[in-house]
Amino acid sequence: MPSIQNRFVIALVSILVALAAGQVRADGQESRELRTPKPPDAPQIHGPKVYGARPGHAFLYRIPCTGIRPITYSASNLPSTLNLDSKSGIISGQAPDKPGEFLVQLEAASAVGKDSRPFKIVIGDTISLTPQMGWNDWYTFYDRITDSDVRRAAAAMISSGMADFGYQYVDIDDCWARKPGSKDPVLSEPARDSQGNILANARFPDMQALTEYIHGLGLKAGIYTSPGPLTCADFEGTYQHEDADAHQFAQWGFDLLKYDWCSYGKIARDKSLAAMQEPYTKMGRIVGDLDRDVVLNMCQYGMGDVWKWGRQAGGNSWRTTGDLGLVPDRSLPGFYSIGLANATHSEFAGAGGWNDPDYILIGMVGNAHQPESGARHTQLTPEEQYSYMSMWSLMASPLIFSGDITQLDEFTQNVLCNSEVIDIDQDSLGKQGRLARKTDNEFILAKPLDDGSLALGLFNLTNTPRTVTVTWKDLGIAGKQTVRDVWRQRDLGSFAASFSSQIPPHGVTLVRLIPARAQ
Ligand code: GAL
Repeated sequence: MPSIQNRFVIALVSILVALAAGQVRADGQESRELRTPKPPDAPQIHGPKVYGARPGHAFLYRIPCTGIRPITYSASNLPSTLNLDSKSGIISGQAPDKPGEFLVQLEAASAVGKDSRPFKIVIGDTISLTPQMGWNDWYTFYDRITDSDVRRAAAAMISSGMADFGYQYVDIDDCWARKPGSKDPVLSEPARDSQGNILANARFPDMQALTEYIHGLGLKAGIYTSPGPLTCADFEGTYQHEDADAHQFAQWGFDLLKYDWCSYGKIARDKSLAAMQEPYTKMGRIVGDLDRDVVLNMCQYGMGDVWKWGRQAGGNSWRTTGDLGLVPDRSLPGFYSIGLANATHSEFAGAGGWNDPDYILIGMVGNAHQPESGARHTQLTPEEQYSYMSMWSLMASPLIFSGDITQLDEFTQNVLCNSEVIDIDQDSLGKQGRLARKTDNEFILAKPLDDGSLALGLFNLTNTPRTVTVTWKDLGIAGKQTVRDVWRQRDLGSFAASFSSQIPPHGVTLVRLIPARAQ
């Protein structure tokens, strides 16, 4: 039996060995292994391969591309009504007048290499052909949001490199309008001018200038309101001004509207499904008729099984649950219960309409129970963060980060910006992964991709390492598959009939199974 001193030495040596191997952090937590490889110096184009726009409407798309600048961009087969700025990679102009498809090839070249990527532009009624990607201010700023916060966030989306991976929407949430009854001169009434036009509060001196700034960066702008008289934070809502407000948002230059139920419960004539659908169908029609492409994000927490009718009502995405930031962490963090509930609605998601399980809350993020307490670093373990992002991508969820985008640390960025993970989310086939297995201890999400491969997430829900095995039979596939580790972006080999992985507590193994014939 080793002496106490020897035992101490043995323990110390094993800690040092584990630290050297990167398995534990000095504070005893799991290692913060950066799984995402650094993007190469040569240009690499990312983002969706299919993109929808309505005929004749303003068009704006910044080609997401990593690599050392300067990069020169070009594109073949771009509609003649669009112009590509070869230095910034921003495509702008007016969508062609008639419905149709353009098989564009995007190209990016620099002194150290070049890349190209197909980009199909589909002119028609349907927008949001892939899930929205961007940032929303709610979990950082709550009722303190200002014009300059939004500008700083947009600038950070570019300077951090997030936009180079496809993040695009800079979304203002609640609290930009006036607050009826407020004594604070910055927020106080009138909520509307003498013609009934909605007014921003004094923290937003010029909405149009703000969207122009965001558009100048090649990004898009989002805004928020409620069908009720008041928003959830008691700011002016759109009740009885729906048409005028939507036109005002479009005129200001917004590209996305989050429409949040809030006080509408007091207005609804009863609790029937029809009464619940009414405000959304109404706004869906108004937004669809605007002379601007405005994505409609419906937010009513999943009432009336919104996934069954959200698309018909004109929604491009619909929240399937209550607020993720308000879900208490029980034995597992809240994103699991929200995500697993969302996972059961897979059949209703597809091009133009997506199930929305709420924002990605990692990095420096505010506490929704105490918004005034300011942002602090997420308490999720590294493994949980990889699981969160993997689930959202496998579910083709909107990828909207809501932590402080101006304070991105290297680890958070590596979770948010892995091009192969994002490719799963943005895949052109537009299928939401389905739950192939779910027990108390593990679950598997499987998402078919456009190239015939299958994205697969094996998740460990327990507090101990666990081996999860999946057979091709379980998945309804056959034949040899190349298995690719998506986070680390490397092939693991060829597998004949099954795949097993040892997964850390609350961790994930995210792979793509590429059938031999598709290689
Ligand atoms: C909630 C909504 C949140 C946030 C908040 C603003 O109803 O789910 O995402 O928008 O209102 O007050």
